[in-house]
Amino acid sequence: MEFLDELQRRRTFGIISHPDAGKTTLTEKLLLFGGAIQEAGAVKSNKIKKGATSDFMEIERQRGISVATSVLAFIYKDKKINILDTPGHKDFAEDTFRTLTAVDSVIVVIDVAKGVEAQTEKLVEVCRMRNIPIIVFINKLDREGKDAFDLLDEVEQKLGLKVTPLSFPIGMGYDFKGIYNIWGKKLNLFSEENKQTISEGVEFSDLDDPELDRIVGEDAAETLREELELVYEVYPKFDKEEYLNGALQPVFFGSALNNFGVKELLDCFTEIAPTPQPKMSEERLVDSKEDKLTGFVFKIHANMDPKHRDRLAFVKIVSGTFKRNAPYLHVRNGKKMKFSSPNAFFAEKKEIVEESFPGDIVGLHDTGNFKIGDTLTEGENLNFKGIPSFSPEHFRYVNNADPMKSKQLQKGLVQLMDEGVAQLFTLEMNGRKVIGTVGALQYEVIQYRLEHEYGAKCTYENLPMHKVCWVDPEDPKNEEYKDFKRTKQRYLAKDKQGQLVFFADSAFTIQMTQSKYPSVKLHFTSEFK
Ligand code: G4P
Repeated sequence: MEFLDELQRRRTFGIISHPDAGKTTLTEKLLLFGGAIQEAGAVKSNKIKKGATSDFMEIERQRGISVATSVLAFIYKDKKINILDTPGHKDFAEDTFRTLTAVDSVIVVIDVAKGVEAQTEKLVEVCRMRNIPIIVFINKLDREGKDAFDLLDEVEQKLGLKVTPLSFPIGMGYDFKGIYNIWGKKLNLFSEENKQTISEGVEFSDLDDPELDRIVGEDAAETLREELELVYEVYPKFDKEEYLNGALQPVFFGSALNNFGVKELLDCFTEIAPTPQPKMSEERLVDSKEDKLTGFVFKIHANMDPKHRDRLAFVKIVSGTFKRNAPYLHVRNGKKMKFSSPNAFFAEKKEIVEESFPGDIVGLHDTGNFKIGDTLTEGENLNFKGIPSFSPEHFRYVNNADPMKSKQLQKGLVQLMDEGVAQLFTLEMNGRKVIGTVGALQYEVIQYRLEHEYGAKCTYENLPMHKVCWVDPEDPKNEEYKDFKRTKQRYLAKDKQGQLVFFADSAFTIQMTQSKYPSVKLHFTSEFK
């Protein structure tokens, strides 16, 4: 197949949701439709179960599973679908943010009873900032939940989206009769008995047909007619361009567990979802159709076996063809590298591949050369943008608990930070190291991994800070900036890239500091230029 055909058939996306909305179930059903797995239950959930916070074996087990489910690929109607897994647990939100830099679109799963939840809001905000095309899937229609119109309102208001339903439920919970597929003009009837069969739906372009009353009952038919009339009146007509620009979000209803509404979603997705998109680098916009290889590392996963400290770096291919054993430039190091066993992902397996194309993810074995955000090219000096660090919300000093192992501690910390487990800051005043994380769970993971993979021990000391802000002076030479640095000396540190950050103990401090030093801008993410 020609390069451009390969590119056109790829759809790379992520599924995001608040934990328990049904992300794992939906992923699994999509794989079932793609014929990539034979039975439900084959994809292991990689979520950290409630109550498992201190169970390190559980964390380790989850890490193993999440390598396997990091990328799940399958073929559907000749399209190559790559699903990038995003951890649902909020303590790993930063991982999810980074994965979102490698997707071309997303599907947001919402629980019909719970509506829009906190984690969904955060993640959708990141997608909106980048204008990522979004499809919404409202799940668990077999249960009692909120009214469909109320939910659509909630999605618009809380997520700031402009929605248009492409399917609509007939009843819900106990009375759930099925779904009218607006996109395909088909009616799908729900029956709990044949959960695992894939319902094709019956063509039903004329809703006034009395056949509808016969199938779903007069009342339900009447309600559906009225509701659809309202849908057509109130919501904008679906427009693919608007969807692709992130200005309009189609909504589907269904029940992933019951295999219901999933095929409609997938059929529409393969038709409308974007092919691999161009990506901005610091130097220029890189088009996916360019024939020279470019790609970037968005995730690094440590090996499960502590004796082999190699890691798997996940590279999203932006342009060109990635070839096994071809020399590529690791731009940050300025070194050429060859990869003799690049991994491609297929369903829940990984295998060595000769060639990969834009939209694909390759897993490269790494002995410590890669950091998140690194770019590979055929020689051009390019650096992809868009993997910012976000301000952590928890901070602790890290102390060495075993003076004989300070080198190991140092090395372990650097490598774990390169993997993106947490962020390390070095205080300007005394050189003390501070680890910043999104959730408390990471501290336990770090301590455990330092000990088991690097033979180093550490203790923590709490640092009661609210956030870090990246410091951006309008003029580094002006008096105001000098004064800022003098007065705030105790609260200044460098991040791992050497950028200056300011530790603020409250939102009020940030506000006060900003008004006292208006020419020194404070940002919550590391990428602000
Ligand atoms: P997540 O990855 O978003 O965290 O959610 P997951 O798919 O694990 O689903 C969370 C729970 O919701 C699971 O039940 C799952 O079976 C259930 N679920 C998913 N889709 C539907 C649906 O369409 N209808 C109904 N009624 N339930 C659904 P669990 O009991 O927590 O887990 P499990 O023991 O079944 O794995």
